[in-house]
Amino acid sequence: VTKYRPFPPVNLPDRQWPGRVIERAPTWCSVDLRDGNQALAQPMNVEEKIEFFDMLVKIGFKEIEVGFPSASQIEFDFCRRLIEENRIPADVSIQILCQCREELITRSLEALKGAKNVIFHLYNSTSPKQRDYVFGASKADIVAIAVKGVSLLKKHGQALIDAGTNLRLEYSPESFTSTELEFALEICEAVSDAWQPTKANKIILNLPATVEYATPNVHADQIEWMCTHLTRREATIVSLHTHNDRGTGVAATELALLAGADRVEGTLFGNGERTGNLDLVVVALNLYTHGIDPKLDFSDINHIRDVYERCTRMEIHPRHPYAGELVFTAFSGSHQDAIKKSWPHQSPDRPWDVIYIPIDPADIGRSYKAIIRINSQSGKGGVAYILENEFGYQLPKLMHKEIGKVVNDLADSKGAELTPQDIHDVFVREYIDRV
Ligand code: KIV
Ligand code: ZN
Repeated sequence: VTKYRPFPPVNLPDRQWPGRVIERAPTWCSVDLRDGNQALAQPMNVEEKIEFFDMLVKIGFKEIEVGFPSASQIEFDFCRRLIEENRIPADVSIQILCQCREELITRSLEALKGAKNVIFHLYNSTSPKQRDYVFGASKADIVAIAVKGVSLLKKHGQALIDAGTNLRLEYSPESFTSTELEFALEICEAVSDAWQPTKANKIILNLPATVEYATPNVHADQIEWMCTHLTRREATIVSLHTHNDRGTGVAATELALLAGADRVEGTLFGNGERTGNLDLVVVALNLYTHGIDPKLDFSDINHIRDVYERCTRMEIHPRHPYAGELVFTAFSGSHQDAIKKSWPHQSPDRPWDVIYIPIDPADIGRSYKAIIRINSQSGKGGVAYILENEFGYQLPKLMHKEIGKVVNDLADSKGAELTPQDIHDVFVREYIDRV
């Protein structure tokens, strides 16, 4: 990708700027079919999960958490369908979530028989509130639960490995960001000791902001501290899993990538518990608009949006970054004018520079045509733009002001947005039929 600048041209005269920038895409893991799905009023059925899974593969996800197969028959059946119908490409790993309990581990392994690449995601909760109020367990008890889970997985998972499955471990200290850092490190080290990862078969340590309680810099400090204190850092993939309770899930993830994390878990359009999981689309396209190939294909975002809305029965907000219906519109006259004046300067050998529009809508399959809409707040530039681009009338500059006023008066009297056809009709009535 060369069309976009790595960062905007800003100078801070008194210090080197920028300090750090994200230089490459992380490993992505979609948790739509587990964390996203569990937060739906009506969870997806097996057919919907299959359609969603196929779409995630097409987008380019290489790691996909497909569910919690020991928790429900639907999740178990879905896992079996994926494997038995050969729907999982050879370079894609399916990930399943499981608590550190023997009967759940063995049931999950049954669901995974025949899979080529598996990430077995074990978790238990580690924060003081969870330890005291929910489990009535000491720190040592919590470490023992996690370590026991790992040794049970080693014991029962061997048959799967012998049958040819590439079995990897992910461990999450759930509620990591509310856990004492030293204790989070202690439990991660204990899990890592039990699993014995190598550079060739790394452990994934996923550090969730299960509930977002802090500002993004604090989250990034926590991640950085873990990255610098883990003893087997070279055999560890540090993974992020932010939620969005303070509305800063994306910022928290971006800062934590700068702080050293390798991998990102999230969902399309941020579906998930409460205010949602991290929105993968936004992080990936933010990278894209800084000239970094996210290695995820959002070139037909309308299709992705349609499948998402149908399967989840959730709606995407009209102002949702990149995907919202209104994000490539300009209602204000001065914005319309600047867009009209800057667009002709675009060419394939120049970085994207259209004012007010941070990404070429065509790059994500959206239309140039819908960009300018006219209401009573619009200026003359937008009206001339519509008449020229939609209907082929090249108006002399001297006419722009007058026709702009005619259209604004019409919009005022209607009290509503005008369609390009309304503008065309008033133009024809006032300027063509009259002569
Ligand atoms: O938010 C969370 O902590 C989770 C874990 C199970 C990883 O979803
Ligand atoms: Zn979560």
